[in-house]
Amino acid sequence: MRYASGRHFLQIPGPTNVPERVLRAIGQATIDHRGPEFSRLAIDVFQGLQKVFKTGGAVVIYPSSGTGAWEASLVNTLSPGDKVLMFETGYFAALWRDVARKLGLEVDFVPGDWRRGIDPAVVEAKLGADRDRQIRAVAVVHNETSTGATSRVHDVRKAIDRAGHPALLMVDTISSLASIDYRHDEWGVDVTVCCSQKGLMLPPGLGLNAVSAKALEASKTARLPRAYWDWQAMLRDNPAGFFPYTPATNLLCGLRESLRMLFEEGLDRVFARHLRHAEATRRAVRAWGLEILCQNPAEYSPALTTAVMPEGYDADALRKLILEKFDMSLGTGLGKLKGKVFRIGHMGDFNDLMLAGTLCGIEMGLSLADVPFAKGGVTAALDFLSDR
Ligand SMILES: Cc1ncc(COP(=O)(O)O)c(C=O)c1O
Repeated sequence: MRYASGRHFLQIPGPTNVPERVLRAIGQATIDHRGPEFSRLAIDVFQGLQKVFKTGGAVVIYPSSGTGAWEASLVNTLSPGDKVLMFETGYFAALWRDVARKLGLEVDFVPGDWRRGIDPAVVEAKLGADRDRQIRAVAVVHNETSTGATSRVHDVRKAIDRAGHPALLMVDTISSLASIDYRHDEWGVDVTVCCSQKGLMLPPGLGLNAVSAKALEASKTARLPRAYWDWQAMLRDNPAGFFPYTPATNLLCGLRESLRMLFEEGLDRVFARHLRHAEATRRAVRAWGLEILCQNPAEYSPALTTAVMPEGYDADALRKLILEKFDMSLGTGLGKLKGKVFRIGHMGDFNDLMLAGTLCGIEMGLSLADVPFAKGGVTAALDFLSDR
């Protein structure tokens, strides 16, 4: 590999760029996870996470990836054979379905075309038709990282309420929390699933569940086997700032710092920044003459944009060229989108000039790869960003 000067552009939709402040916090000497300094750290982190999830309820932190947090949401609340309503919004929704099936749950998977979010009317119809209340949970991916389409969680909640159905609402906020407005309590979510490597600006390694009182109640009778993922032991030890097993101490040091940064900027400003960068990116993609994968403007993701390649041109060849020439990583197409799309991550620790550099790299790459496109995407984005 040739030496690459300057800094790498990590513009995949997670893991995201980890700020220097967070890296320094993680780089501190590891502390005793049963001592008083750690207890203060953990209590700080739990309080900060409650503000980010917008919940007064419990937050559970695992040393895990997001997939572990998915598994935890299911095994703590459900029993073998329970029915779960899920929606094919994209690759990650299908993976969550696979986890549920492997655990012995019965999934009603509503088909989708990977170009939009969940239709709340379908949620209402499915629950309305479930007269003997067999469906125990509705599981929603808030921001489909494989497509760049969001689902309107609050509208899904209202659809569940209109149907008068008691199912638990579970939401994957893995690529939305701390990037896109999200309200666990206000939207009546029972389990929110998240992890560290996206909007929270950390490396991978922490999985999160925010848990409602109703979900806690369900956990008392849920019969899926669980040990590592059991909420109960966590909830017993966490209030004093401790864990039932060794926590990821240094990542938690990083999390305390990233939470401080989010509160210094202010969550509303963080969300507005993501919306603005997403709009600038879409203007660039449209000016290039490329199609945006998400077809419903009301569901455009503030965290990433997925661009469709012209027929016959390989998105992965373009990504490879951009990586080799400009030292920038863009997101690959996942599942059936492999080779057909590339994903531009604009979430986490990010600013106007980082976006400008990202779009410059793409525009130069499109030229060098001889992809049929119109120049001017960068200019369209800069005009938007520099508009008073
Ligand atoms: C929306 C969503 N859900 C779940 C996952 C899986 O998380 P992990 O790869 O950390 O297990 C991802 C990963 O990117 C994701 O974007």
